[in-house]
Amino acid sequence: MSATRSTAVKRISISDLQVMRDKSQPITMVTAYDYPSARIVDQAGLPIILVGDSLGMVVLGYDSTIPVTVDDMIHHGKAVVRGAKRAHVVVDMPFGSYQTGWQDAMRNATRIMQETGAGSVKLEGGVRVAETVHRLTEAGIPVMGHIGLTPQSVNQFGGFKLQGKTPREAVAVIADARALEEAGAYAIVLETVPTALAHMITQRVKVPTIGIGAGPFCSGQVQVFHDMLGLYEDFKPKHARRFVQGAQVLRDALVEYREAVETKEFPSAAESFYMDERALALIERMAPPVPQEAEDLSEAADVLEDALESLRSASRSASGNSAG
Ligand code: KIV
Repeated sequence: MSATRSTAVKRISISDLQVMRDKSQPITMVTAYDYPSARIVDQAGLPIILVGDSLGMVVLGYDSTIPVTVDDMIHHGKAVVRGAKRAHVVVDMPFGSYQTGWQDAMRNATRIMQETGAGSVKLEGGVRVAETVHRLTEAGIPVMGHIGLTPQSVNQFGGFKLQGKTPREAVAVIADARALEEAGAYAIVLETVPTALAHMITQRVKVPTIGIGAGPFCSGQVQVFHDMLGLYEDFKPKHARRFVQGAQVLRDALVEYREAVETKEFPSAAESFYMDERALALIERMAPPVPQEAEDLSEAADVLEDALESLRSASRSASGNSAG
């Protein structure tokens, strides 16, 4: 066996995340959907990357997450896993990939894990998906739960609305959290619920809670990459903070590029490639002379037009002859 130590970065595991929660170290999670963004997130030291089905809205331009497929998640998940060397990568199970029963969930989660190389999957729902979560975790597939405002049920909720506001609703959300924990979920996302409710749940479960619009008392926070970097301008959820006006920064850079091209300031000599002077002289001697742009080309067009006309008249007289 080789005595040399591997220099590979150790990827964060679900046990590392539990240790962070137990030591009250806040856990930061953000979404990413491709190789370059995953690299940036990884280099910034965030411990969890979520390949969220929010990609349906922020990357693919749909109105909701409903149209996203397992193949979409695998395509983006693979790119993220290639880009992230250290972060734990969790991939969302999209709408329709687990609601039809644990057997379908098992088949789709297995594909996602095998084909992307991700560390876990996330699915939405509490009590109603507890059996599925239990089956997956029993089979060795780590599952992150997601309760409160679950975007795949947006049509059921009648919009992106605060969940758990009334005592009855709040008790149901607490029951969902408990059911997920008992079923073996290693962490639970709490989305758009009152701060006090998220606090209560965080005190009542032993696994990390990751909040989005759930206040500061969760074990960690998750944000959508395009929201927090100001890249998605169609809509800004109340819970999102733009840490940079990304779309504006990019637009300014693109305008600068266009202007540099239009003024012929780009590319400069330093951005261009040159060849040996003697080789150039030789090529100029060997290559046919450059046509004299405008006049020569219009002359060529006239010659072509004449040639076409004589062909047309030859074919006219030929057909006249055969008809006679
Ligand atoms: O898909 C997603 O981005 C999510 C987060 C909002 C948690 O599920």
